[in-house]
Amino acid sequence: MSEQTLSLIKPDAVERNLIGKIIQIFEENNLIIEKMKKIHVDMDFAKTFYSVHSDKPFFNDLCSYISSGPLVAMVLKGDNAVQKNRDLMGATNPKDAKPGTIRNLYAISIDKNSVHGSDSIENAKIEIDLFFKD
Ligand code: CMP
Repeated sequence: MSEQTLSLIKPDAVERNLIGKIIQIFEENNLIIEKMKKIHVDMDFAKTFYSVHSDKPFFNDLCSYISSGPLVAMVLKGDNAVQKNRDLMGATNPKDAKPGTIRNLYAISIDKNSVHGSDSIENAKIEIDLFFKD
């Protein structure tokens, strides 16, 4: 079934000119870039976006990092888009990411892990609204 999901190319990947290489992986796997924009979010926006992690010890560092430079936000569309995007990204920690996944290829660390993807259809709707409500 066709779904939408939110994908972020995080500041560490934008800084290393990896936008094209990452988008190529999505397109080669039949995910359509429905919407895309490059933005630099502030700390307040980061705290809202990552509010589900507000009780975690890494919350402040996570919010500082995601607001440290421009990122690319995209709505990806396609069959099973939520799970497909997560499979293409690979495990959160690049040390555990399977060969060929985006995080295996490009991530630096568990913090600078190059991409974010919604973890469910419900959260995809919330995250897409947050980034693209205009
Ligand atoms: P992301 O998919 O954007 O969702 C939350 C982020 O928290 C995650 O990617 C990681 O980059 C970051 N993070 C930092 N430390 C940890 C940790 N110990 N466990 C899980 N996520 C972490």
